[in-house]
Amino acid sequence: MAASVDLHKISRFANIAIPLLAVIFFFGGHFIHFYIHFLTVVFIILTVINIFYLHIQKKHTILRNFGILGQARYMLESIGPEMRQYLFASDTEERPFNRVERSEIYRKSKGIDSASSFGSQMDFDNSEVKIRHSMYPVDKQDIKPFSLTFGEERGVKETYTITKPYLISAMSYGALGKNAIQALARGARLAGIPMNTGEGGIPKYHMEEGGELVFQIGTAKFGVRNDDSSLNQEKLIKLCTDPSIKMIEIKLSQGAKPGKGGLLPKEKITEEISKLRGVPQGEDVISPAHHIECTSKQTTVAFIKHVQDTVDIPVGIKLCMGKTSEFRDMVKEMKNQQVYPDFIAIDGAEGGTGAAPKAFMDGYGMPLYASLFAANQILTEQGVRDKLKLLASGKLINSSKQFVALALGADAIYNARGFMLSLGCIQAMLCGNNTCPVGITTHDPALQKGLIVEQKAQRIANYVKGLEYDFYEMLAASGIRDAKDLNIEQLYIPNDTALADQITTLLSTTK
Ligand SMILES: Cc1cc2nc3c(=O)[nH]c(=O)nc-3n(C[C@H](O)[C@H](O)[C@H](O)COP(=O)(O)O)c2cc1C
Repeated sequence: MAASVDLHKISRFANIAIPLLAVIFFFGGHFIHFYIHFLTVVFIILTVINIFYLHIQKKHTILRNFGILGQARYMLESIGPEMRQYLFASDTEERPFNRVERSEIYRKSKGIDSASSFGSQMDFDNSEVKIRHSMYPVDKQDIKPFSLTFGEERGVKETYTITKPYLISAMSYGALGKNAIQALARGARLAGIPMNTGEGGIPKYHMEEGGELVFQIGTAKFGVRNDDSSLNQEKLIKLCTDPSIKMIEIKLSQGAKPGKGGLLPKEKITEEISKLRGVPQGEDVISPAHHIECTSKQTTVAFIKHVQDTVDIPVGIKLCMGKTSEFRDMVKEMKNQQVYPDFIAIDGAEGGTGAAPKAFMDGYGMPLYASLFAANQILTEQGVRDKLKLLASGKLINSSKQFVALALGADAIYNARGFMLSLGCIQAMLCGNNTCPVGITTHDPALQKGLIVEQKAQRIANYVKGLEYDFYEMLAASGIRDAKDLNIEQLYIPNDTALADQITTLLSTTK
């Protein structure tokens, strides 16, 4: 596109004007008033910088061609996201979550009614899945209270029951700062929902709050590892003596970076993190792309059994769907070995992360709705849907999206970034930089100072209360008396969606 402003002309003018002004102010200071020399100094400095940019530095083409004017461009570019977010972006435009979606969370978290006026700002153009209401809504008091028991199918010694369809999805101490973890853990306890620890090792700050936890075993097995990343059974058994640990989740993959492990740079390995994660200080720690024990469907299922045999609580897995055929083969192998995880958490490719390579974040994995449908369908087709619970995550931050996931087969909802927003996240997209302006994904005490644990914990509780209120309202409107009766019939799925494609493909390949 042709630029309407001739930058070259303006920069040539600036390159002459700056030293000229330095000379003019010099004479002004000499003949008119001494204080004008203040401007002389400013323009001499600008002249020197300009000469440096134009003739000495060789790194930046823009600066070499345009001098100081090019620097202005860099400055404007660096504040572009903020300018767009605050001034120009429309309410439905931003990614990953637009203002309409974020506002719903902020309002719920503050306990403000989320009713709005005039009309929806969402699309009704066949790109969105909608929910079908019933001509015969039921009364809320006739709806069966939600209850879901993990581990009942396998008859584990200590089953775990949730009474709200929500869990805080994995976010480790490390990705999040101490205050954020404390606020989430306290909020989860107030709300009566469990929180996943993420793969950050011994969940010290989570446990201090006395809530209920799902301990995540990542591929590096922080907190429960041997030096070669294999599982240290004794460490796991010892950890599970803590009554707050209610379930174990083996993370096979994550939506934001499926097929990829993580890197914990040595700079982030403080003495405390080194102890909690069980890794040495002074060297980078690379999380493998897969568990060292899991190199095939046989060994993966055997590893699930190994962990189940080690602890008396429910043990599930988390994965992002890639090839549906691999998922089907794994389910067949489960049948073969007669080993079933107590839950499978499907994480959509649209999921979040503290940090991930862009190619993986943008390009890999199946989106949630299609993969959730696929998982539910394959488990049903293989006759094992009743052997386990199905959880779902991937931008399920508001009530209607959660309801769609439940109708697609999820038994309960994992939610990470919704809870970050509830903590006050402004979507600054700086999670990996340690500079989060609202003190959530940073360890900088100056930035964490603003995150008041007690107040934010209450927001988490309010958010859950708001979601739960909507959940029962929506069941009533759909004419459903028990959440377990939710199914795909409740949904209006336009042909243009990825979900519709997946439905057609899977139904045509299902024998
Ligand atoms: C800051 C941050 C840290 C995360 N850390 C982990 C982690 O330790 N383990 C994991 O399995 N997923 C991790 N996730 C992914 C979430 O648990 C979740 O699967 C994903 O963000 C999708 O849910 P959401 O769309 O509700 O955020 C993290 C996500 C975020 C935003």
